[in-house]
Amino acid sequence: MSDPAGYQPLAGKVAVVTGAAGAIGSATARKLAERGARVIGVDHPSADGGPVETARWPRRIHPAARRRDRRSRVCGYVEKSLALGSRIDIFFNNAGIEGTQASIQDYPTDEFVRVFNVNVLGVFLGMKYVLPLMQAQKSGSIINTSSIAGLIGAANMSSYIISKHAVLGLTRTASLEAAPFGVRVNSVHPGFIESRMLTDIVHNLGVPGAEALVPAVPLGRLGTIDDIAIAVAFLASDESSYVTGHSLLVDRGKTVG
Ligand SMILES: NC(=O)c1ccc[n+]([C@@H]2O[C@H](COP(=O)([O-])OP(=O)(O)OC[C@H]3O[C@@H](n4cnc5c(N)ncnc54)[C@H](O)[C@@H]3O)[C@@H](O)[C@H]2O)c1
Repeated sequence: MSDPAGYQPLAGKVAVVTGAAGAIGSATARKLAERGARVIGVDHPSADGGPVETARWPRRIHPAARRRDRRSRVCGYVEKSLALGSRIDIFFNNAGIEGTQASIQDYPTDEFVRVFNVNVLGVFLGMKYVLPLMQAQKSGSIINTSSIAGLIGAANMSSYIISKHAVLGLTRTASLEAAPFGVRVNSVHPGFIESRMLTDIVHNLGVPGAEALVPAVPLGRLGTIDDIAIAVAFLASDESSYVTGHSLLVDRGKTVG
């Protein structure tokens, strides 16, 4: 969906997007840039670490630097983003992995920890280092990516389900801590989004294909990455200035009943 000509609600704002090389991150980075933000993308090619990649960035996106451990990597991309943008107005705390699909008794403990480290510790550390900057500015909008998996259970997905529930709890907690400083914190909960991640999950769960999930979606159809980008752009903008601590479901009704 394209914006009306000249629609720039994010003009003058600096946005940091994690997981920016992925499906939802790249679509959202593009949408934020289209709406006027200067966007700094953060990603790396493997869930366990490695260099930040420059591939597939939209023109206004700059890579952040490599660091050794998770805390120092997060601190590093926040420092570098600040150096590039002078401020951070929007933080799309989006990087996440799905992990293995297996029952709890068969779930590899190391894999559980790996998912938790990216999806929970990564989101926590992102806010730990971005919130003080926004609080000092007395403004800012953080959007954490949870999932419909943050609100419901699903067999054979314990690590992912737990991690996305944790993102919801982190969002609610952060929204209360940040509110006195005029900073907003919300979460977005994508449903079944046409993407590599959904394709892999349904394959591993033995579902014939992502389209087989459509009958479970009250309004029908799979979601697109732009459905999420538009929702995030709204939460990022001052148009949502009365919204904080909110869990925005973008799932065409999947989680209602
Ligand atoms: N695709 C879906 O259907 C769906 C549904 C609900 C929620 N989500 C969530 O949306 C977010 C994005 O998912 P996606 O579909 O774009 O997946 P994706 O795999 O296409 O993108 C995720 C990106 O995050 C990056 N990443 C992983 N660990 C990182 C780390 N520690 N630091 C920085 N970058 C890291 C990956 O390299 C990848 O580019 C995830 O949090 C995911 O759980 C996706």
